[in-house]
Amino acid sequence: MSATGKPNLKKIVAEKAVEDYVRDGMTVGLGTGTTADFAIRKIAELAAGGADLACVATSLASERLASSLGLKVSPLSDVECVDVTIDGADEVDPSLQLIKGLGGALLREKIVAAATVQEIIIVDESKLVGKLGSRCPLPVEVVAFGHSKTKYALERQGCSAELRMAGGEPFVTDGGNYVYDCRFPPIDSPFFLESRIDVIPGVVENGLFLNMAAAALVSHADGRITRMSKGSEPETVSL
Ligand code: A5P
Repeated sequence: MSATGKPNLKKIVAEKAVEDYVRDGMTVGLGTGTTADFAIRKIAELAAGGADLACVATSLASERLASSLGLKVSPLSDVECVDVTIDGADEVDPSLQLIKGLGGALLREKIVAAATVQEIIIVDESKLVGKLGSRCPLPVEVVAFGHSKTKYALERQGCSAELRMAGGEPFVTDGGNYVYDCRFPPIDSPFFLESRIDVIPGVVENGLFLNMAAAALVSHADGRITRMSKGSEPETVSL
């Protein structure tokens, strides 16, 4: 509970995911963002308690946090596979398709997710949408060279694209690239849109995470946690 007496929705869902999915001997992918940070702290507690865990990080920020908590973080290339990754998301639709990347880590997050056996998403209920694109823009990472030309090509797909800024300068990702936040109308065909974006020269990666999540744990204002899994009705996993 927080000081207000209300449950901290990011913390409870992150801790539940670690309890349910992280086991001794696993290689664990560390997500990025305010929700994933709570999971990293819980994973560090398990390791401090004696669990043998190898970790890979989805961003420099997560790597720094994990290292400061005593977790050993290995390069992704050095691990055979990632058993489970626990990461946040910006939108989750009813079929478990996602938008990620408002934190700017979409490229490494997607590479780690693709190398992961079980990608577990942790969100509060505010991230649930009927259609992707309903509540946030789609982040697209692009190379800096000629980025304004890449922007026009993105906008031809039906969005308004805005260069993400930080401190008066373009925001630079861990990969040294820029991000365009692309505001689309609610997205009817995410697979088709992804195929259109991915062929634009200059695009490095897009924030659509399609068919990547094994499950999403969702925390609700009343303190319940529900689980969404592919092909099943959402179920309550904690009251
Ligand atoms: C980072 O690039 C994102 O994909 C995050 O996972 C996402 O923005 C969720 O972040 P919060 O948990 O901070 O909302």
